[in-house]
Amino acid sequence: MASIEPGVARHYEIEGLEQRILDALAATGVDTDRLTAKDLQAVDEFHIGGVAATEALIDQLDLSSASQVLDIGSGIGGPARFVAASSGATVTGIDLTQSYVDIATSLSARTGMSGRTRFLQGSALAMPFGDDSFDAAIILHVGMNIPDKAGLMREAARVLRPGGVFAVYDVMRLKPGELTYPLPWASSADFSFVATPDDYRAAATAAGFEVTAERPRGAFAVEFFAAMRARLQAAKAEGRNPPPGLGLVMGGDAPTKIGNLTQALENAILAPVEMFLRLH
Ligand SMILES: C[S@@+](CC[C@H](N)C(=O)[O-])C[C@H]1O[C@@H](n2cnc3c(N)ncnc32)[C@H](O)[C@@H]1O
Repeated sequence: MASIEPGVARHYEIEGLEQRILDALAATGVDTDRLTAKDLQAVDEFHIGGVAATEALIDQLDLSSASQVLDIGSGIGGPARFVAASSGATVTGIDLTQSYVDIATSLSARTGMSGRTRFLQGSALAMPFGDDSFDAAIILHVGMNIPDKAGLMREAARVLRPGGVFAVYDVMRLKPGELTYPLPWASSADFSFVATPDDYRAAATAAGFEVTAERPRGAFAVEFFAAMRARLQAAKAEGRNPPPGLGLVMGGDAPTKIGNLTQALENAILAPVEMFLRLH
């Protein structure tokens, strides 16, 4: 695992990402000296469906201002800020990529969310938290970088209190078929560990979870990318700069990554899947 994680972190590192985000938002008229969490939503939710997908996932959890929530693979912090703002919960994010942790921390400070969100660098497979520390955990589009799904589930089960819920929203494999790289989470097959819903269920139940609900979101994903394409085409036709979006966090080859992913989604080889797991 140790040999995989540095490569995964390198994949996500983008030089000067926070400034690029601020510049892109400023170019659309956002006052970046008075940034709100909402201003960031088009760029800080690094998964298919953006904030709508996070909202759909969180709506199925019973969170309150007393909840301690863990976001595994928290990226630049969009989902954590959304959970904290919408439920009042306190959210701890952990992520492998140091610069993402730094950006997440800085964006929370810029949006007045530091009191309810904190971000730490670390691996999902060895988290620096005591047993039974959290009421709920979420993971959005991270498991595709983690070959050891059993280890991921064991570690989530360890840090959740009994009865706690783990909400998974990962890209999963629905049927055999060739994948073309780069994809948003991996530039080559060496760093991509997409698994089937069966694999996730087996790892979860072995770790002591019960699967309480599951929903494939393939059609939603195809619509999300069609809407993104339409926005880009409209901007081009009108001679405008494209609106800031997920392309910013995906780097220079974002169009290729999105094209390859869209193809796998349209062929129903891959789909994002929600899975809700309750710890016994
Ligand atoms: C596609 S991004 C999703 C970020 C965030 N969950 C979101 O939806 O905005 C995947 C994230 O997973 C993190 N990651 C990958 N493998 C990890 C691991 N083993 N432990 C912790 N974080 C990991 C990456 O650093 C990256 O920030």
